[in-house]
Amino acid sequence: MSPKTVLVIGSGGREFAIVWMLLQYLGLIKKIYIAPGNGGTANLSHCENINIKPSDKAALIKFAKDHQVDITIVGPEDPLGAGLVDDFQVAGLKIFGPTQAAAEIELSKVFAKQLMAKYGIPTAPFEVFDDFVAAKRYLHQQTEFPLAMKADGGAQGKGAHIVHDLDEALAMVDKIMVDLIHGDAGKRIVIEKFLIGKELSVMIISDGTNYRILPITQDYKYAGEGDTGEMTGGMGTCGPLAWAEELLDDIRSQIVEPLLNALASEGRPFVGCLYPGLMLTEDGLKVLEVNARFGDPEMESVARLLKTPFLEITAAGIEGHLGDLEIEWSDEYVTSIIIASAGYPGAYNKGMVITGLEHAEQIPGVVVMHAGTVLEDSQYKTSGGRVLVVTAIGKNMEEALARAKQAAECIKFEGAWWRHDIGKNAA
Ligand code: GLY
Repeated sequence: MSPKTVLVIGSGGREFAIVWMLLQYLGLIKKIYIAPGNGGTANLSHCENINIKPSDKAALIKFAKDHQVDITIVGPEDPLGAGLVDDFQVAGLKIFGPTQAAAEIELSKVFAKQLMAKYGIPTAPFEVFDDFVAAKRYLHQQTEFPLAMKADGGAQGKGAHIVHDLDEALAMVDKIMVDLIHGDAGKRIVIEKFLIGKELSVMIISDGTNYRILPITQDYKYAGEGDTGEMTGGMGTCGPLAWAEELLDDIRSQIVEPLLNALASEGRPFVGCLYPGLMLTEDGLKVLEVNARFGDPEMESVARLLKTPFLEITAAGIEGHLGDLEIEWSDEYVTSIIIASAGYPGAYNKGMVITGLEHAEQIPGVVVMHAGTVLEDSQYKTSGGRVLVVTAIGKNMEEALARAKQAAECIKFEGAWWRHDIGKNAA
């Protein structure tokens, strides 16, 4: 493969991880543009942040044409839901990610649940409501709590709520459907049975026909230690999960292949990363949600284990020959810890000066990936809720975890915090 010009869409830790993977094979890279990128991507060799929003489809297409971009890789779900891939394809540009129709699996929880029900894919029993009075009437009839309540549309990973009793459930209906705390995403909701079990993040890359499963990780979604407090986009990940190995055949036959086949049968073949969040319950595997993009921070972890050029994988995905490509993985283990701003997942301050990055990266096996940072006057400052992702590899999970924690201790900014129990129950 000759060196390529790549455009990466997005600005978080996942997009940093994508750029980092691309840079591991410098011979394949002419230039990487990131729209809009973050403080970390601004400072990497061969990379240039460009000031175009992921929502500005026309400007992205013009940029890709003007700069002879060979391949575009989309990070977040919102541009997928807005049809960025469709528009790039119409413009004759190569792009890795699902079409708008295929991405609906993430952008509409109702679509996802109804698809799974239609094709017999295991998921929690559910009801759909677009009227808050009907939702409340239904809740009054329920005798078993907690329940899970989800806004239909995209809500940056924060649209799912666990309600523990009737009063909390009724109040949550008001918040989501009347106060619209998640915007229009909450005009329709899913109420479903609350499942108990162990969660696992399964990401696959698909070319529409063939697929490859990436190392399976565990995500720590809550802000508080011991999975307490508010839901976040994810506070850390670790993997590969030894206990998930024996589930691989079931994951393929009960979840991944039925999902891909269901989407294809509905005329929505999936190209890109399909990421079902699963739970292993007493009744077997169940799908909690299906995402249409790489997980964040799952991808920051998985990136550290990849031993095949990421560019070759995305090219094979776009061109439909993933079946010819064996993806190689390191036999090491990885842990990622998010360093967050005070207040996250609620309101947080920006502009705090970050120190200690060099010390953190001197620890063996550690790479610090940037998420919510900017580079100003040669200093990294905070600009988001999830600020940095400390990733560490090791010969076993304990070593990876110890290294990640040691590195996280080095990083300082006003209000910085992280979960100290990432890795718990993962072995
Ligand atoms: N870490 C969860 C997600 O990417 O949706």
